[in-house]
Amino acid sequence: MGGAALLPRRPWAGRRVVLGVTGGIAAYKAVQLARDLTQLGALVDVALTRAAGAFVGAITFEAVTGRPVRSDLLAPGYALDHIRLGRDADVVCIAPATADTIARAAAGAASDLITAILLATRAPVLFCPAMNDRMYSHAAVQRNLERLRELGYGVVGPAVGPLAFGEGQGPGRMEEPDAIVQYIGRALEGTTPLSGRRVLVSAGPTREAIDPVRFLSNRSSGRMGYALAQAAWRRGAEVTLVSGPTALEPPVGPALVKVETAEEMKDAVTRELPGRDVLVMAAAVADFRPAHVAPEKLKKESRPGAIALEPAPDVLRSTRAARPAGMVAVGFALETENARANARAKLESKDLDLVVLNDATVPGAGFEVETNQVVLLDRAGGAQELPLLSKDEVADAILDRVVSLLQAR
Ligand code: CTP
Repeated sequence: MGGAALLPRRPWAGRRVVLGVTGGIAAYKAVQLARDLTQLGALVDVALTRAAGAFVGAITFEAVTGRPVRSDLLAPGYALDHIRLGRDADVVCIAPATADTIARAAAGAASDLITAILLATRAPVLFCPAMNDRMYSHAAVQRNLERLRELGYGVVGPAVGPLAFGEGQGPGRMEEPDAIVQYIGRALEGTTPLSGRRVLVSAGPTREAIDPVRFLSNRSSGRMGYALAQAAWRRGAEVTLVSGPTALEPPVGPALVKVETAEEMKDAVTRELPGRDVLVMAAAVADFRPAHVAPEKLKKESRPGAIALEPAPDVLRSTRAARPAGMVAVGFALETENARANARAKLESKDLDLVVLNDATVPGAGFEVETNQVVLLDRAGGAQELPLLSKDEVADAILDRVVSLLQAR
């Protein structure tokens, strides 16, 4: 596999992120955050407090961002930096944010470079608190965080997990860089046509039990559906992901409902359907399931010659009558022959607005790979052939179509 489509893309090329790093041990994770943002194409300007400099040196951040790092508010020749950085930023992220910085920001102070930038900017601001869990739960810190929210700032995390000095029963640990990147992405997107839209996505395979330890399933990894849920959330949607068993990390932001069988997926989708604007069924739901589930593990000696199968519910079809008026419904079609005709038949029989056709015979398309090559078929007879793309890019292309369909309503 290869080709230009698989070169790492830089979706945030030219976007300006000011990363304020304050003095906590989580500052070392801010290095990875700065690197990840830079790899996405962003221009990352790091502002480092003196205390942060005691944990990680400015040179480290300069090496990963390729840009000068600032730490002083009043440096000769750079006295207007706080205004320029604040004014030009597309997003400001304080990670880690100590209790002290949070307190000063809540008070509207401008006593160092980072707090001065906060007053100078009109871009979205995200705070990623990181501190000992006892400090975090103190009423003063909680009150200050509340004040930050009132000021319109976002607060990301903190997470529960091991803290410095072996402490950590409650929240206090800085959110992981991967998650912070997603929040920054959502802030960079700003208001989009999907903002506030309620989107339901399904993903992954289902498992249909044969006996207590065996099941029938398929090769779906869940990646396409997870990429869709993540991208829709990044664009401002309120997303629920109903997922069969996968090995994937949960997406950042969407609510996750885990299911195992086709029946459970049908129940979850039916429950989540009311009030939704969009349904995207990317799950590879079983078509058949064992007619009887053996209550005990089947023994070798029983030599079962065949497993009797019965149809599993067709989840997408079953939602037809219950779909809210104006909903955009998207299905997938995985085909190995007569791909277009079969996919069109699914569009009709499942009453869909868009079908994402996966031709399993195309290299790099379908299950268990990072890429996908699909054709988007719509009700009006249109067929949009996409090149071989990463699943993230396919997700964006599908959502672009969903947006046009929503806007045409
Ligand atoms: N689907 C579903 N419930 C099923 C099977 C499929 O909701 N029991 C959904 C899938 O999530 C997908 C679409 O229907 O969005 C088409 O799935 P696909 O497996 O390609 O089609 P099937 O309807 O199963 O038809 P066939 O297996 O005969 O190709």
